[in-house]
Amino acid sequence: MNTGPGGHVSSTRSNEQAEDLTVELRSTINGTAIAVEISANDLLVDLVRDELGLTGTKRSCEVEVCGVCTVLVDGNPVSSCMLLASEVDGSNVVTIEGLRGTEFFRTAEEVFTRHAAVQCGFCTPGILLTLKAVADREVSDNLDIKKELSGNLCRCTGYQALLAAATELLT
Ligand code: FES
Ligand code: FES
Repeated sequence: MNTGPGGHVSSTRSNEQAEDLTVELRSTINGTAIAVEISANDLLVDLVRDELGLTGTKRSCEVEVCGVCTVLVDGNPVSSCMLLASEVDGSNVVTIEGLRGTEFFRTAEEVFTRHAAVQCGFCTPGILLTLKAVADREVSDNLDIKKELSGNLCRCTGYQALLAAATELLT
């Protein structure tokens, strides 16, 4: 895996040799162990949205620019549009649905609402997952929140409110 925008982890999207192969995937999604047969070419975003119905993960640019497809893989924010689902075999995957009900989500909901940091909400799941990964790291005094969120674009362009909310959430 490589590091993409905003520290997101990416992988090679195409794999010609894997074409038409079916593989078994065993991993944990939002705390539940799964074992499914997938095409070796399936992307992680296809698995979570189309196979598992976890539609809080969005699909848009599909070239690792916008961050709306962000999920956490073993705690790291990942662009699921660029990662083969087979690569999360044995991993722990968290989508926005898995974050709901956590203390982090409740606090983020309150802070983002108070700062009016959610407009259409399309970018919000990816942003919250990226911030969750930052929060789970040891947050240092020189935390650069703009850099941390550089892989998550907001089409509604409410960046001032977003940064204010993210700053309050993480500091
Ligand atoms: S849809 Fe994955 S980064 Fe835009
Ligand atoms: S709130 Fe609409 S894309 Fe960010």
